[in-house]
Amino acid sequence: MAIVCKSASEIEKMGHSGHIVRQVLDHVRALVAPGVTTMDLERAADKMIRELGAKPAFKGYYDYPCVLCTSVNEEIVHGIPSEKRVLKEGDIVSIDCGVVLDGYYGDAAITVPVGNGVKPEIKKLLDVTEASLYRGIEQARIGNCVGDVGAAVQEHVEAAGFSVVREFVGHGIGTRLHEEPQVPNFGSRGHGAKLREGMVLAIEPMVNYGKPETRVLGDKWTAVTADGSCSAHFEHCVAVTKEGPVILTQ
Ligand code: MF3
Ligand code: CO
Repeated sequence: MAIVCKSASEIEKMGHSGHIVRQVLDHVRALVAPGVTTMDLERAADKMIRELGAKPAFKGYYDYPCVLCTSVNEEIVHGIPSEKRVLKEGDIVSIDCGVVLDGYYGDAAITVPVGNGVKPEIKKLLDVTEASLYRGIEQARIGNCVGDVGAAVQEHVEAAGFSVVREFVGHGIGTRLHEEPQVPNFGSRGHGAKLREGMVLAIEPMVNYGKPETRVLGDKWTAVTADGSCSAHFEHCVAVTKEGPVILTQ
């Protein structure tokens, strides 16, 4: 499958999906507190997605069971919400949400501190990961390459002493959740697919406090850091336009 470029009206529709994802993430973020379970977050998101007239994108995708991915501490991505997972003071939780509205997908993620007890170095991990996302977004310009996005993310992360995950990557998005191209959070400038007008990329740095290696738990979904260090994840969908990068998930 080739990379699909979107028309202005398709990008507008993706802005509507993206706006719903953002509203859900804002709502769920406000619920995060010690004593709340990741299933509480799941229920709130499920309800809100439907109230806003959209459908969840993750539930049923390769048999994934939920509308959110909720990944706590050393969990990188694809943590499955559970009644048994009670958030506690000092944890971090990444919340990843995707929806489809009128045939077009939106996908975004944030990582949120639980309570006020998150260690300063872990708070820095969150800040650096979010800033690296914006470094990547800044490169989503006509004539640049996918490698320019990855290199910008990687340079920012590694300058701070953290590491980027290699096994999971960002992606094109449109009438499917995952389209070409893959968008790694590492790379070299001037390499990879050329960015053209109308491409929409889900850029999603996953950043480990310690070493980059990962493994997947026995539930076949939850990806964790091999060294047990904390991991953060932020994601936006971004359209490549004549006016420069346009974030669709704000
Ligand atoms: N944002 C993630 C991704 O783009 C979430 C996918 S979870 C899945 O891969 F369950 F849908 F696979
Ligand atoms: Co994604």
